[in-house]
Amino acid sequence: MSTRASVVAIDGPAGTGKSTVARGLAQALGSRYLDTGAMYRVVTLAVLRAGIALEDTEAIGALAERVEVAVDSQPEGDRAFLGDEDVSREIRGDAVTRAVSAVSAVAAVRTRLVAVQQQLAAGGGVVVEGRDIGTVVLPDADVKIFLTASAETRARRRNDQNIAAGLGDDYAGVLADVLRRDELDSTRAVSPLRPADDAVIVDTGDMTQAQVIDHLRDLVEQHCGAIR
Ligand code: DC
Repeated sequence: MSTRASVVAIDGPAGTGKSTVARGLAQALGSRYLDTGAMYRVVTLAVLRAGIALEDTEAIGALAERVEVAVDSQPEGDRAFLGDEDVSREIRGDAVTRAVSAVSAVAAVRTRLVAVQQQLAAGGGVVVEGRDIGTVVLPDADVKIFLTASAETRARRRNDQNIAAGLGDDYAGVLADVLRRDELDSTRAVSPLRPADDAVIVDTGDMTQAQVIDHLRDLVEQHCGAIR
């Protein structure tokens, strides 16, 4: 197994810096990057647009089977598509963020997206980021990483991002949302968020994102050999 061809799974809760780190690691390794959360967000957007109630798991599952989801990672930014429409910005909005835990808990949604993710990862040379990559999507990944940080650290980071983006300062509200999403994601019946037994757990609390990327690159090289 060469490092360039390696399959790297990165899981963990929201607010651990997972996306930035996974994208940075992919760049450092010369690999592709796959953001599976974006795929759940695209399906969620389709559900909201169709006016389907979040309790109607049957209708959500039926929609997930026919909806066309694509994600595309480019150096200038990641893009997500619903059919031909570029929905990269809309899937990051509040409405989708509030509804995505409910939609991603529907078994039929997961079955469909896991199959697409496995196809996209085939061939290797990819860093795949999500919640169930090491446990369900790619149980044979060459390296499995589970990023953690305390709920308070994650809420503080997200609140700082909100302030920087002009979205206001509401640490208590953000912390409540982090705890609510952790609870939903880790207690759902289908593919709950948990580290794979053979995952390396990395606490990002006291590290900068650059330090985390360097550390993960070292881990991948230890498992798969130095990048030449
Ligand atoms: O990483 P993110 O915040 O964009 O993910 C959005 C939601 O999708 C999050 O609530 C958890 C869910 N998700 C999932 O259930 N499985 C994945 N592999 C990726 C994300």
